Amino acid sequence: MSESADHLDELLASRATKPTRQVDPCTIVIFGASGDLTFRKLIPALYHLALEKALPTPYRIIGYARRDKTDDSFRQELREALTQFSRTKPVNDDVWTEFAKNIVYCQADISDPAGYEKLRQIIQSSPEPRLKENLLFYLSVQPSLFGEIASRLSTVGLLKKEEGLTPDRLIIEKPFGHDLASAQELNAELIRFCHERQIFRIDHYLGKETVQNILMFRFSNAIFERLWHRESIDHVQITVSEKIGVGSRGGYYEEAGAMRDMVQNHMLQILALVGMEPPASVEAENIRDEKVKLLKSVRPMTPQQVLENVVRGQYFAGEVDGEARPAYRSEPKVKPTSNVETYTAIRLFIDNWRWAGVPFYLRTGKNLPLSASEVRVQFKAAPNILFSARTQLDPNSLTLRLQPNEGITLRFNGKVPGAGTELRPVRMRFSYDSEFGAYTPEAYERLLLEAIAGDATLFIRRDEVETAWSIVDSIRTAWIGKSLTNREFYSAGTWGPSAADDLLARDQREWRNPQPAK
Ligand SMILES: NC(=O)c1ccc[n+]([C@@H]2O[C@H](COP(=O)([O-])OP(=O)(O)OC[C@H]3O[C@@H](n4cnc5c(N)ncnc54)[C@H](OP(=O)(O)O)[C@@H]3O)[C@@H](O)[C@H]2O)c1
Repeated sequence: MSESADHLDELLASRATKPTRQVDPCTIVIFGASGDLTFRKLIPALYHLALEKALPTPYRIIGYARRDKTDDSFRQELREALTQFSRTKPVNDDVWTEFAKNIVYCQADISDPAGYEKLRQIIQSSPEPRLKENLLFYLSVQPSLFGEIASRLSTVGLLKKEEGLTPDRLIIEKPFGHDLASAQELNAELIRFCHERQIFRIDHYLGKETVQNILMFRFSNAIFERLWHRESIDHVQITVSEKIGVGSRGGYYEEAGAMRDMVQNHMLQILALVGMEPPASVEAENIRDEKVKLLKSVRPMTPQQVLENVVRGQYFAGEVDGEARPAYRSEPKVKPTSNVETYTAIRLFIDNWRWAGVPFYLRTGKNLPLSASEVRVQFKAAPNILFSARTQLDPNSLTLRLQPNEGITLRFNGKVPGAGTELRPVRMRFSYDSEFGAYTPEAYERLLLEAIAGDATLFIRRDEVETAWSIVDSIRTAWIGKSLTNREFYSAGTWGPSAADDLLARDQREWRNPQPAK
């Protein structure tokens, strides 16, 4: 066995001895079972939960899609996909064989009532009573089908609007609406068939260990939390950069843009976790209450303020890592005159007691030099009284690296050895890999496990999703009919348009870019 396989076994063994939450026997129905997400993420995640013995005993997975397959051919395809997409290699054949026995396929159209009758019969065919009652429906299909699935499940009695400890649950993939009105409409439709607490809206960022660690870090360390406010913090930068361009997803991206694709969900979620007040407890509702409060405190902008505080950007041709990239307007399915933003930078304020006057700068973009997500908290500079006027003291900062090189870096000034008083910034780094080993579960593993257990903490509540849309809508509305200016274009492979640098320069600040792994 290879060294890394040994290491993995050790880690799994050490995890197996830790007390884990008891989860009830559960049937998981995946709508969209022949789709990309199922093959790349959902089945690998469920397989890893099986590998870790984290799934309930017993469990059942039913795939629902139109394509013609038998149970065996479906399992065979999933096995091949797992070889490709499993985050641990090689796939453990014994675990797979046991796992595969729990998988069945239900071939049917989502619009066909007979499909739900067939599904009901498959569910009812289980000899284990709990598998007929504890039902989790994963809606991994296009959003236009969410409402119809809920309605038809309800008609055949598979989705019951109920209270209780583990009611039937719906996991809803993103995007949840394309603006506030459509999100409200979808919420209103779903709520006819189930209670809010039965709806688990996914933002896979919340399944990432490092994103969860934002809260753990803030509320378990006295040294940082007492600095976490306007008296000590100069500003906060949140960067989510992507090295990839739009590629074959031009059709989708023309409708979305960076604002809908990244800001409405991932970036505002990170903002909420970084800025929220301590919750009354770690219960889902208490945490989500505080996140919503934070989002509601984001200062609204008039259309004029949007133009002053929000930058759009779009890449033109360039190179990323020596690889030529076409301009966005030349990508397949993109209009040659498109003004859709492949980059955006936002300067916003949170109007509450803790954050009054502290700017938060958010930016995200495609075809940037690195793929990275990080939060940089920049503290106020120390008064430069003691050292020579020539010495520019570096302000202290704390960087939460969400991915890659997951970890935390504290930057402060240190004396350069020698007779003088020369100072330079130095770093103290914590890295997840070196502390805990490189065994990082995929976001979908954690999210599926939480949904199986019926815990909604890591999912987005109705008011959260709607508040986030209202922030994004007010920005997007101000852009209607406005063409991009020259300062809003950037070469692929650079850190964004000059207009984004101007946004910070106006405040005598500058972007601090994520650094490549050492
Ligand atoms: N892929 C990703 O990485 C990713 C990431 C984030 C979010 N999402 C979201 O996840 C959802 C699924 O994405 P995907 O990439 O897996 O899509 P996909 O590859 O296009 O798969 C769509 C699935 O839906 C099924 N389907 C569509 N219409 C159907 C109908 N009338 N009756 C029965 N089944 C039907 C298809 O099955 P048949 O063709 O066999 O009928 C297929 O299994 C979308 O909401 C997407 O936005 C995906």
